[in-house]
Amino acid sequence: MPKLGVNVDHVATVRQARLAKEPNPIIAATIAELAGVDSIVVHLREDRRHIQERDVRILREVITTKLNLEMAATDSMVRFALSLKPDQVTLVPEHREELTTEGGLNVIENKDHLSSVVNLLQEAGIVVSLFIDPDIAQIKAASKIKVRAIELHTGNYANAKNPLQAQEELEKLEDTASFAIKQGLVVNAGHGLNYQNVVQVASIHGIEELNIGHSIIARAILTGMDEAVRAMLELVRR
Ligand code: PXP
Repeated sequence: MPKLGVNVDHVATVRQARLAKEPNPIIAATIAELAGVDSIVVHLREDRRHIQERDVRILREVITTKLNLEMAATDSMVRFALSLKPDQVTLVPEHREELTTEGGLNVIENKDHLSSVVNLLQEAGIVVSLFIDPDIAQIKAASKIKVRAIELHTGNYANAKNPLQAQEELEKLEDTASFAIKQGLVVNAGHGLNYQNVVQVASIHGIEELNIGHSIIARAILTGMDEAVRAMLELVRR
């Protein structure tokens, strides 16, 4: 049975829209832990559009499960991770203009740089995972640089235009997961997973952890709406 990591970035997205103090992603993380989640995931982006360094520092202190920090493999982020020591770092490609992480890392083209970053972090006792597309050549490259784990990008599966395409993308995920496991890699998966498409991915043999953000935060907003409005109405009508 795969573990679940909940990404709380978009709680911070709502907070940053007003540069306010709430909603607080730390509280969201704590509630997720109380609900039974296995790890908390945050992406500290270069443009700091949602999660801030302070959030990651506080999370490091208060969460009781596992902190998985998604970040670009830049010098400043590596320095930050080495000083903060999250349980896990997931290295992702990052482009300023993108709405979200749009593709996996190109491990083949960046193997020297990624290898030295992976080494530095792993020597510091941090588990490192590379976010990559379900592509055998990328997995071989990841295995060569001796990274501990990979996270398979499920975006193409999630965004498939029809059931046939979804089935093809699912088979790619199954084949690459099984290949990666044979290489001795820990295999995680994530991106675009939601209440409609998660079961098929959770059923892939050997997947250790699914990391899910947007769909959970989206549902939390809507399931919490009724209670939030009733509480405000009570004050207004008092
Ligand atoms: N895994 C990685 C590496 C990501 O970059 C993201 C998005 O931050 C996720 C998982 C979660 O994706 P989503 O928000 O679509 O569930």
